[in-house]
Order: sequence, then C-alpha cells, then structure tokens
Amino acid sequence: MDAPRFPRPTPGQLALADALLRGEASLGTKVETLPASVYTDPDRFEAEKAKLFNKLPLLLAPSAMLPKNNLAVAHDGYGVPLILSRDAQGEAHVMANVCRHRGTRLLDGDSEEAIPAARIVCPYHAWTYRSDGSLLGLPRADCFPGMDKDAHSLMRFRDFECGGLVWFSHDQQEDFAEIAMLCQDFDAFGFASHHLYKRKTHAVAANWKLVIDAFLESYHVQRLHSSTIANFFADGITAADCIGQHQRAAVGRADYLADVDRSDWAALRRVVTYTYQIFPNSVVIVSPDYINIMTVMPQTVGTCLVEDFMLIPEPPQTNEAEAHWKRSWDLLDGVTFAGEDFHAAELCQRGLDSGLLKEVQLGTLENGISNFHARVDALL
Ligand code: FES
Ligand SMILES: [Fe+2]
Repeated sequence: MDAPRFPRPTPGQLALADALLRGEASLGTKVETLPASVYTDPDRFEAEKAKLFNKLPLLLAPSAMLPKNNLAVAHDGYGVPLILSRDAQGEAHVMANVCRHRGTRLLDGDSEEAIPAARIVCPYHAWTYRSDGSLLGLPRADCFPGMDKDAHSLMRFRDFECGGLVWFSHDQQEDFAEIAMLCQDFDAFGFASHHLYKRKTHAVAANWKLVIDAFLESYHVQRLHSSTIANFFADGITAADCIGQHQRAAVGRADYLADVDRSDWAALRRVVTYTYQIFPNSVVIVSPDYINIMTVMPQTVGTCLVEDFMLIPEPPQTNEAEAHWKRSWDLLDGVTFAGEDFHAAELCQRGLDSGLLKEVQLGTLENGISNFHARVDALL
C-alpha cells in the first residue's frame, strides 16, 4: 500500500518509449482471420470458463478500493459470491460471501464502496467473523458442543495483492509468479498510492472477448472515437511487447518524445499512454494523469459485465479538482467506453449472432487481437 508515488520506469517501459522515439510501430505482417464462432459458440464459452476463468489469476479490484484496514466489500461479477476485505493488519483477503453456519449471504448491500468490517455479522443467527474471515464468535456457543471455531473461518480463495491491485484465483496451487512480474510495471506508476475516484459496472450485451478486442487495436481510435479521444492520439504510433501471457503497448508521438529527458519518468508519462491487456480479461490504461482499470467478467456467451475503476493521484481537494476529474470520468467511462467501445462490441455481437459471417478479418493494426486469441486457443 505504500509504494513511492513516482518510482522509476521499468526497463520494458523505457524500451517501448525508445521504440516510439525511433518511430518503430508494432504491426502484424499479414491479414489474419478468426472463426466467428469464437464469439457465439456456447460450448466454447463453457470451455473458456473452465480452462481460463476457473484456473488463471484474475484481477478483482485496485488496492485503493480498500483504503484502510478493517474494510470489506461484496463482489459478485465472476459468478461466485465473494468478499474482498482488508484485515486489521492491512492484509487483503478474498473470501466466500457465505456463512459457515447455514450458508447465508453475509454482505448484502449494493454499496459500491467498502464498508467498515472489523466485525462481519451474519444477519440470520449472528455468527460473527473478523475482517480476515476467522470466526470470532457465535451466540449460544453451548449449542454447538465440540465445535472447533478455527475450522469455521470463511472459505478463502488464493489471493495476492501486488502492484496496487488485488488478484484472486480459483486454483489453490496458483503462485502468481507471472503477475508479480507484471506488477513491477504497476509499481512504477505508483498504483498503490492512488485514490479510487469511481467504480462502475456496465452490463454489455457482447461476448467478453469482443470487449477485450476493442482495447487491443488502435485501428478504430481515429474512426469510432473521432469526436471524443481521437485528437489525443492523432498521428501517434503504437509500440507493443509481452510480459509472459500479458500484452503491453505504448502510444505516443516521436516528435513529442524527442524533447523529453528519458530519465524524467513524470515527463515521459505526460507524452506516452501505456496500456496493458492482462490475460485473460482485464485492461489497464495509464493516461498521463489518471488510470482506468477494467475487468471484463463473462456472464453468458453473449453478455458480460465490465467493471471500470478510475484511479487518480489523490482525493480531489477543491470543487475545481472534483469538476476536473468528473469531466475526465464522464468522457472516458460514459461517452468513450460505454457509448463507443462497448456499444461497438454490442453491435459486433448482433452481427455475428446472425450467423451470416463465418470468419472475421484482422488487419496488420489488429495483430494484438490475433495474439490474444492464439493464447486463448492454446489453453482450451
Ligand atoms: S446462517 Fe449465518 S449465522 Fe446462521
Ligand atoms: Fe476504443
């Protein structure tokens, strides 16, 4: 939680900035195709859930969602009732939102924000848990003769807090080693010391991969986003590479970069936008002064939930600061993501659901999408 705000860039982040400076765009070399059924086949969707979502580490939320000790929040987007908490010692936990007595849902509010949780009390018979999930006590304990309280903590998932983000996995063997590598980049941006400005969940009528695809190519930026963010990226080029399974991209203009001292990380960040596709289902966009984190959570083959978090360097101190961040949030989350990217994904789904198109075409600016789908295929 206490990483320095402006540490140094990682060698990989610098290498991408250098590639931009040299004008080296990362492009594919040929047109690729994908079967349209990858977005519409229910059997494939079940295989993705089993082989990807029930096995791999998944991003849940930024650490800033739990800014103090003894807080907890319910999280249901992955189809499992979860509690995300920070205990009295500051350690994050991911636990089942299911009472060990008779299964009652414990946190039932629809609060977008974490609530005080030094004690989590079941609404039914008041079994009471600490914020780390351990069972603190139960009324009429004499009615449970011989019961070992220590054996009745809330069920825990493998969890990992790293890079200012909280992760979990259904797979109890998961060691999060690749995530730790990726988090060096997030530490370089100081995610852990940021403030969570807003969190919003969008219901999107599109296969989860269509949403991810929208953040893996810059081909659409000057077209779909012509009246919103296109100007910020005009004439920019994209350099990209991989960290394990995950994709990293940097967009910027060589002429702006030429004037920047590359040892000045804050200055470099003002002219380069870094984007990460965290395999399988999350996207992180690091703009010069704020960060968007999106988790795409499949619901059915043709629907998903997208949770968008915006991190800012510190809580707004003035009305002007609040108005400034609200404008950024409205432009990005409301107009650009929901109104343009997610809407385009929904239109795509409707076209593909017709069954008329057997395969989709990917040009050389869309090679990030073919890389992503090849990784998904390899695991099914
Ligand atoms: S079900 Fe939770 S205390 Fe009984
Ligand atoms: Fe977009």
